[in-house]
Amino acid sequence: MQTLTQKHQKRRDTILPWQVSNCKMTMLSVSSAPRVLSLFPLALASLLVVGTVRLLLENCSDSENVISHSSAIEPPPFLSTSFLSNWSQCNIYDGKWVLDNASRPLYKEEDCPYLANQVTCQKNRRPDSLYQNWRWEPNGCTLPRFDARKLLELLRNKRLMFTGDSIQRSQFQSMVCLLQSVIPDGKKSIYREPGMKIFKAEDFNATVVFYWAPFIVESNSDHAVKHTVRKRLVKLDSIEKHSQHYKGVDVLVFESYVWWMYSALINATNGPPYNVKEYKVSTAYELALRTWANWIDTNINPQTQKVFFTSSSPTHLWSWQWRPGSDENCFNETYPIKEGSGSYWRSELSIDIMKTLTDVLHEMKIKVNLLNITQLSEYRKDGHTSVYTERRGKLLTSEERSNPKTTADCIHWCLPGVPDTWNEILYAHLLYGIN
Ligand SMILES: *[C@@H]1O[C@H](CO)[C@@H](O)[C@H](O)[C@H]1NC(C)=O
Ligand SMILES: *[C@@H]1O[C@H](CO)[C@@H](O)[C@H](O)[C@H]1NC(C)=O
Ligand SMILES: *[C@@H]1O[C@H](CO)[C@@H](O)[C@H](O)[C@H]1NC(C)=O
Ligand SMILES: *[C@@H]1O[C@H](CO)[C@@H](O)[C@H](O)[C@H]1NC(C)=O
Ligand SMILES: *[C@@H]1O[C@H](CO)[C@@H](O)[C@H](O)[C@H]1NC(C)=O
Ligand SMILES: *[C@@H]1O[C@H](CO)[C@@H](O)[C@H](O)[C@H]1NC(C)=O
Ligand SMILES: *[C@@H]1O[C@H](CO)[C@@H](O)[C@H](O)[C@H]1NC(C)=O
Repeated sequence: MQTLTQKHQKRRDTILPWQVSNCKMTMLSVSSAPRVLSLFPLALASLLVVGTVRLLLENCSDSENVISHSSAIEPPPFLSTSFLSNWSQCNIYDGKWVLDNASRPLYKEEDCPYLANQVTCQKNRRPDSLYQNWRWEPNGCTLPRFDARKLLELLRNKRLMFTGDSIQRSQFQSMVCLLQSVIPDGKKSIYREPGMKIFKAEDFNATVVFYWAPFIVESNSDHAVKHTVRKRLVKLDSIEKHSQHYKGVDVLVFESYVWWMYSALINATNGPPYNVKEYKVSTAYELALRTWANWIDTNINPQTQKVFFTSSSPTHLWSWQWRPGSDENCFNETYPIKEGSGSYWRSELSIDIMKTLTDVLHEMKIKVNLLNITQLSEYRKDGHTSVYTERRGKLLTSEERSNPKTTADCIHWCLPGVPDTWNEILYAHLLYGIN
């Protein structure tokens, strides 16, 4: 494991005290083991009631353009084996970003009242907006067009919960923005409960929740607002405080990465609370994930609940990673990285984290779908909030903005933006059960 240079250490402390990355370029091709298509997705299974099915399928086949079936007596397109094998053969994470001014962004920043000032980059005077207009296009298949009504129908009488840190909170905000435009005023609401933000679509009795749990397991950072960033202490074997909120939730989406990345070591307990030890982050992450996996395996009912895990959201803290010789960050980046697919510009630590995550998921009894968004988001050096954001409740001052090297936030994403794509992929999973 590499140590950080003084300079980077210093810079990091000023920018984002909890972020770390090993300053070394590593290329890795992860061999993709094609995962066998699972059972019908829960959401679909619940719709398999004669009558409603046909209508819905017709709507799907119209809008998808994936296959054209002319005969009316053929099986509905996405239930046919050819459709399923087509999706199972298609790696939706292998693809490219294409500029699509016509269909992107999926919603307008000013039209969504639920966005936090942290992510409203246009309102915060970001001069360029092309970052909103990119659409992820997998090689070999098409992502279904996001249809808010259809998703609300899938979520009727159900709860969808995002749980994790501030990155996950932006995925939640993105989802709420994607859904809310089709719901009239007075039929939607958002409110807080301790550790939670809850969005409700009244006519559908559909609930979308964000629950703060930055380490997945319990920690001294569990208060959504008043949490320590520097003196973090993680309880690797405790999850009950959080998991009580997961019981009976229909769709659970987990995420936890960036809070682990403060340094190569982390203080944690794994047993008695007085027995605090420094753990290697990769070891601690694995222990925490196993605590989580064990809870999921013993408490989740795969017939009625569906579980996802969002892979690590990449950061763009060092411009030399995509522009060799430079010494800046994501500030002023207005275009995605143009590269072929298949390589990671990740630090060794984050590769460890990714490998740990996939290993643990493979060993689980319950199938957890990986939302493998790391690589596709990696191209989006242009998507971060940079200096067009607020910190500790205040917009950056012009003085702070003039010093992007120390103030730019290259971890969080503007909305509309990259997390919308994560939700389009989640939507595809819920609609088709793709892998
Ligand atoms: C995630 O997606 C990338 C890009 O397609 C791929 O290289 C990698 O193998 C995938 N990882 C897993 C665990 O499926
Ligand atoms: C199908 O689309 C039509 C027109 O957009 C809509 O009225 C209908 O409710 C949709 N049906 C379903 C099941 O989504
Ligand atoms: C999926 O089907 C489409 C349309 O038939 C085809 O163009 C595409 O190559 C197929 N993809 C795979 C991975 O088989
Ligand atoms: C999309 O809009 C941008 C900025 O307005 C413009 O530069 C670009 O050429 C447009 N691209 C397409 C494909 O229309
Ligand atoms: C509304 O949804 C909740 C789950 O979020 C469910 O427990 C409840 O039964 C639903 N209410 C009705 C009237 O179906
Ligand atoms: C762990 O806690 C001790 C005592 O508070 C502290 O001195 C040490 O720096 C901490 N280690 C890490 C990695 O934060
Ligand atoms: C950012 O871009 C503007 C306009 O292209 C340019 O004038 C400025 O020098 C750039 N700043 C940095 C720090 O690269």
